[in-house]
Amino acid sequence: MTTPSKTELQYTGKAKNVYGTTDPDLVWIEFTDGATAFNGVKRAQVRDKGEVNARLSAIIFERLDASGVPTHLASTPSPTVHICHRVQIIPVEVVVRNIAAGSLSKRLGIAEGTALDRPLVEFFYKSDALDDPLVNDDHALLFGWAQAWELAYLRHAALEVNDFLRAFWDEFDLTLVDFKLEFGRALAPDRRGQILLADEITPDGSRLWEKGTQRRFDKDVFRRDLGDLGDTYRELFRRVFGQRLHAG
Ligand SMILES: Nc1ncnc2c1ncn2[C@@H]1O[C@H](COP(=O)(O)OP(=O)(O)OP(=O)(O)O)[C@@H](O)[C@H]1O
Ligand SMILES: [Mg+2]
Repeated sequence: MTTPSKTELQYTGKAKNVYGTTDPDLVWIEFTDGATAFNGVKRAQVRDKGEVNARLSAIIFERLDASGVPTHLASTPSPTVHICHRVQIIPVEVVVRNIAAGSLSKRLGIAEGTALDRPLVEFFYKSDALDDPLVNDDHALLFGWAQAWELAYLRHAALEVNDFLRAFWDEFDLTLVDFKLEFGRALAPDRRGQILLADEITPDGSRLWEKGTQRRFDKDVFRRDLGDLGDTYRELFRRVFGQRLHAG
């Protein structure tokens, strides 16, 4: 594929900027060093975060594609950029949990760290204005956010991603506690209707606990002031890629 050029800025997100490209079916997604928590209330710039997230998400999406979960990633022209198939994002965020933590613990009073007997899949309505509330299939169907077959696919694909990610992080001595996914409907005529795993899989939207020490290798370090997020992400990079981010 010849790399298309970046055109106009289309969306400024909290952690990424989305640009158009000279190919209308592709978007240019730039990962930034912006860190936010509590729906944008807490903010900081964290050096290297964009690059660590872009490179981690790329290797994970490439492996998922190879193992049969189609993703939006088309190419990586630079360390902080993903060129992706443009999708219509399905406004239902999918969270998979293996261990209770975060909003699940808060909502239902399940102690953080409680192992779940099987993976729990939760849907959240993607709405910053409403703080991404928990919803069920019936809400999604009734309000037209997704069709029944799409919800079935989201659940099935999310569980497959969970199996993959548990094994992936296990290799680096990390336990996958939970993670969030976004999916979208491909817009290109030759792929129309196909559901692609979109957005990102990064430690921003995952919980990763080091086996034994329980040290956090995710954005909870920033949310809960547990240490330096940049150092944490650079250490995660070193473990996965076997070299320092700025080697040499
Ligand atoms: N392939 C794609 N095509 C179109 N939009 C995409 C694609 N992949 C991700 N997006 C969207 O691009 C945006 C990425 O920016 P970022 O993750 O920084 O947003 P955010 O601040 O988290 O806001 P949001 O609440 O919209 O997710 C998100 O809105 C995401 O849903
Ligand atoms: Mg986002």
